[in-house]
Amino acid sequence: MAAGTAEFVVIANRLPVDRVVDPDGTTSWRTSPGGLVTALEPVMRRKGGAWIGWHGAADEKLRPFTHDGLQLVPVPLSSQEVEEYYEGFSNATLWPLYHDVVAHPEFHREWYDSYVAVNERFAKRAARIARKGAVVWVQDYQLQLVPQMLRKLRPDLRIGFFLHIPFPPTELFQQLPWRREILEGLLGADLVGFQLPGAAQNFVRLVRQRVGHKTHRDAVYLPDGRTVIAKAYPISIDASGFEELARSEAVNARAAEIRESLGNPRKVLLGIDRLDYTKGLRQRLRAFGELVAEGSVTVDDAVFVQVATPSRERVDQYRILRDDIDRLVGRINGDVGRIGQQPITYLHTSYPREEMAALYRAADVMVVTPLRDGMNLVAKEYIACRYEGDGALVLSEFAGAAAELKQSYRVNPYDINGLKQALLDAMNAPRRENGRRMKAMRKYVVEHDIDRWAGRFLEDLTAPREPHDKVFRPPQET
Ligand code: G6P
Repeated sequence: MAAGTAEFVVIANRLPVDRVVDPDGTTSWRTSPGGLVTALEPVMRRKGGAWIGWHGAADEKLRPFTHDGLQLVPVPLSSQEVEEYYEGFSNATLWPLYHDVVAHPEFHREWYDSYVAVNERFAKRAARIARKGAVVWVQDYQLQLVPQMLRKLRPDLRIGFFLHIPFPPTELFQQLPWRREILEGLLGADLVGFQLPGAAQNFVRLVRQRVGHKTHRDAVYLPDGRTVIAKAYPISIDASGFEELARSEAVNARAAEIRESLGNPRKVLLGIDRLDYTKGLRQRLRAFGELVAEGSVTVDDAVFVQVATPSRERVDQYRILRDDIDRLVGRINGDVGRIGQQPITYLHTSYPREEMAALYRAADVMVVTPLRDGMNLVAKEYIACRYEGDGALVLSEFAGAAAELKQSYRVNPYDINGLKQALLDAMNAPRRENGRRMKAMRKYVVEHDIDRWAGRFLEDLTAPREPHDKVFRPPQET
């Protein structure tokens, strides 16, 4: 296939922009918030290059366009593909399977067929625009077949893949009827990145057992002489960008206003999540509700602000969750609230970065309790915003971030009593204790920011490589 002009190409399910309709009826694009986008945007800008992704609407073809200096290449999806590839295989098969099956994954052959067709479309688009020898970086679970498809079309490219969500233990991955296809899809990359070393090890073990390739530590040796490296690159945030925002007068004024409108309680607890069943919202709200019901916490003492960003609303499990959380919040507030004093302020909406920063500034305790999470960038954003070194983070040991943020109050979110105790500990710890913890975590997050993450990945991806049969004969492993 003939080469294009882009030297660096990012392929992700979504483009890093949202469409907005202005009051005069014209539409424009706005760079969207969210982990993946926040993560890659600065790298894209610095490197220049193209971003291939879906623009979020069904049955609509758009031409490539430039926004804010980013070259964007929209990939169309039909409404049937949105149902089968996006809502179906990506978010009702892979998402629950990769997150410890906390919801039941559904396996449907026509969903997988759609996943193949859409992955092929992304791969072809990239093959057309990438320059000879270009670097292509494929993102996340929606596009695991793209590396292999792209390599077939363009063997000259350097291809990287990064999985933003957990990679499951081998026992769970084996359930997938298309396990071999997914593994071979990923092996099309030169470098496969994961959030945690354990995930990379799961992958390498599966490749050895299921595909039969030789492996040694983080390397997979393919019969054609290629070596694929599988390694951990824990993702991070634009820490200085968040801190700068958090230091602004407007954000601090807004934070004071938030506390004021909550009735200036002694402690503000905060949760910010996509409304997703992996996030442990039920457990967290129950734990707080019980503390208030028992009188361990009074409504003057503490309020809980939970922001739940609408997400994947047409997928059944997400609908069920939304109703459950509505009911749970209503019941807790009904049972233990007083006139003008609700223990839980629940906001089913998404906010711009400024408002998020103000919430982080207003919160004494950040509560992040996923049942399973690849990383959790909210935990890191909170830390970046606490530039005075105060505040406390309650963090699930099942979030990738727990491997790095060791000074958080760590919890097993399934253990409601443990969760209650951690909330109390975080709320009642002496200032000095929380200061000591926060300062250590800040040092870590500031040093390990998104630039370093992207830099490390791209450096490893672009490092010169020899075919393995020339330099190294891998030892036999059993
Ligand atoms: C997670 C995934 C991303 C995804 C995001 C939002 O962070 O790792 O790939 O883009 O959720 O989900 P959505 O389905 O709205 O793209």
